[in-house]
Amino acid sequence: MGKVLVTGGCGYIGSHTLVDLIENGYECISLDNYLNSDPSVLDQIKEITGKEVHNYPVDLVDKEALSKVFQEEEIEAIIHFAALKAVGESVEKPIVYYRNNIEGQINLMECALQHNVSHFIFSSSCTVYGKAETLPVTEETPIASAESPYGYSKQVCERIIVDSIHNKNMTACLLRYFNPAGAHESLKIGESPINPPQNLVPVITEVGIGNRKELKVFGDDYDTRDGSCIRDYIHVMDLADAHTKALKFLESKQLVEGQAEVFNLGTGKGTTVLEAINSWEEVSGDCLNYSISNRRAGDIPAMFADYTKAKEKLGWDPKRGIREIMATAWGWEKVRNKM
Ligand code: UD1
Repeated sequence: MGKVLVTGGCGYIGSHTLVDLIENGYECISLDNYLNSDPSVLDQIKEITGKEVHNYPVDLVDKEALSKVFQEEEIEAIIHFAALKAVGESVEKPIVYYRNNIEGQINLMECALQHNVSHFIFSSSCTVYGKAETLPVTEETPIASAESPYGYSKQVCERIIVDSIHNKNMTACLLRYFNPAGAHESLKIGESPINPPQNLVPVITEVGIGNRKELKVFGDDYDTRDGSCIRDYIHVMDLADAHTKALKFLESKQLVEGQAEVFNLGTGKGTTVLEAINSWEEVSGDCLNYSISNRRAGDIPAMFADYTKAKEKLGWDPKRGIREIMATAWGWEKVRNKM
């Protein structure tokens, strides 16, 4: 078996997946331009696994530099995380998002095909479903018209993969994540966004630690059990495990060449914003400073996954819930702030 190339290997989900892949015996290399990540994460990965991962600090848009990596390394599989991911910013800077996410995808796929890479795993998002009519969301739920350039870039990348591997010797998994959160149990790696976070869990821990004044709960008048929005928070190590299992699934040759399979990755359980706050309060033993504010534009009332397909085909079953997510996210926040 050749190497596994993890793009965005120094980023949040990429770094946790590297740890899981290494612990499952895979030889990995990373490609990350440090745009929203820090090279020191590689030292932390070494501390956890005892293995050194080489990172190529290459931008996917730089086709020449990317090609050199494929010439130097024998790459058998690619797990592609590297992308811009802030929904609001994508609305402000659509061209930047399209160039980075879509041109990056095209370059990567072109190199992969030229160098006979066997397997491709793509980091997609439940955002492709938009405001689904029925819950939970299955892989058969229709794709909605994208609400942001970020969401559209995920839809287009999925399509680029499906179209470009057709009739080729490659198989692929498109993994649609629900709401990734939490940190590795060692608390040596976690989410370290360079820009201020906007997702619920890191906002809660930032308020908890005192780096942000308060959490604004975006609406308590939704038609849900307590009026706040419902999401399906999935622990980042369960997600990492899903990538390793997806790779094993592709290696097992259950798909015919040229085939791509889609999987939802969520826990199947929805948590409201107020329940998430409550869970943080339980693990920290503290009170969170929050207030109810207006709804956030573009938010949907509820979203959670049906992950039956991943369970049946990948043998994947998430082991952690909101409590483990909060405990590790909170532990990591304290480590980062040296408390
Ligand atoms: C967001 C993105 C989605 C992306 C996902 C990745 C939007 C509209 N959607 O989803 O495309 O795939 O992150 O994780 O940005 N909340 C508050 N106060 C806060 C922050 C969040 O009440 O300060 C609430 C939100 O209203 C929402 C829930 O917490 O109900 C989760 O929000 P967030 O973490 O931003 O995730 P999504 O909106 O589900």
